[in-house]
Amino acid sequence: MKTLIIGGTGLISTGIVKALLKRGAAITVFNRGQTEARLGGGVKHLAGDRNDFAAFESAMAAAGPWDVVIDMICFRPEQAESDVRAFAGRCGHFIFCSTVCTYGNTQTGLPTLETTPQAPLSAYGRDKVACEQVFLRAHAAKKMPVTIFRPSHTYGPGGNVINNLGWEATFIDRLRQGRPIVVSGDGHGLWQSAYSEDVGVGFAHAAGKPACFGEAYNIVGDEIVTWDEYTQRTAAAIGAPAPRLVHIPTDLLLTLDRARYAALEEIFRFHGVYSSAKLKHDVPEYRSAMPYAEGVRRTVAWMDQHRKIAAADSDPQEDRLVAVWDQLSRDLQKQLGTRA
Ligand SMILES: NC(=O)c1ccc[n+]([C@@H]2O[C@H](COP(=O)([O-])OP(=O)(O)OC[C@H]3O[C@@H](n4cnc5c(N)ncnc54)[C@H](OP(=O)(O)O)[C@@H]3O)[C@@H](O)[C@H]2O)c1
Repeated sequence: MKTLIIGGTGLISTGIVKALLKRGAAITVFNRGQTEARLGGGVKHLAGDRNDFAAFESAMAAAGPWDVVIDMICFRPEQAESDVRAFAGRCGHFIFCSTVCTYGNTQTGLPTLETTPQAPLSAYGRDKVACEQVFLRAHAAKKMPVTIFRPSHTYGPGGNVINNLGWEATFIDRLRQGRPIVVSGDGHGLWQSAYSEDVGVGFAHAAGKPACFGEAYNIVGDEIVTWDEYTQRTAAAIGAPAPRLVHIPTDLLLTLDRARYAALEEIFRFHGVYSSAKLKHDVPEYRSAMPYAEGVRRTVAWMDQHRKIAAADSDPQEDRLVAVWDQLSRDLQKQLGTRA
């Protein structure tokens, strides 16, 4: 199976390469060569920038045809159009990595299925929907068989460990130091995380499979946890003390600093619960094999090794917020003559 991965050294794409190698695929990765490759040999490398459309398209035509092409880093419709020019008639199966952010998360029925209407809240989600439509039109026009994957939160070595407020680089150091952790709302929002190598298996075993042609799949982890549990389990996994969780209303956080909490506004304030049942039916090799605690330990070990963990003191805002919130709570209790 002659397979091209656009990307190939990233968080998810490394897991895909690993699983495809196990399947015996002949793999080429296309990237700029800036991101460290975490796997050994056995993979051919084509260097280039996918945004240099003319050079990208002629390089792909020269190196093709491909049995399978997987695009991990297509974010805008003009990139999708470039893919169609590069691969139409030169590829047996094209897989596009989209996102669950295409749904918009405002739906009331959980879990979110592939049939849930897409109403994205973010520019990221809207652009991914536009890309999906470019590829589905190419599929309908029989230019190339297309499959769409919609991952939810995916973590692992090569990435970081998120918290309920976003991608705060100080989160792990705050946990290690036993500092309070702000969790929005009452901490009962629901969340699902998937390990990158598990997600890689899902992509790799869909590759070249006719049952997957023309289909879209959510690809998410099995476990559903509250944000409070997520935070507590992350602390326990890395041997940090049980954190003091400070619940602050989401609306208040957004009023205080909309830019800082942009990810909370667009993503984390909503339940992130999706079903992978359709994928498991069509690609039974896909499963959540990695226990969360072990996945987090591996991710944090990688972050330590690559100095990706920022010191808690480098961002004093969360401590200031907690101090003001605690004082506010005490003042309210005093004024109302109540005690928690
Ligand atoms: N992680 C999540 O929670 C999550 C959730 C939903 C959806 N997704 C989707 O997952 C995809 C990201 O996958 P990933 O995590 O494997 O990728 P990634 O970590 O973002 O890695 C990016 C890869 O693409 C290459 N690259 C970046 N810019 C390039 C360019 N202009 N030209 C050529 N190569 C380029 C990088 O290598 P060089 O730097 O060497 O070029 C690297 O191999 C995205 O489509 C995203 O929307 C992720």
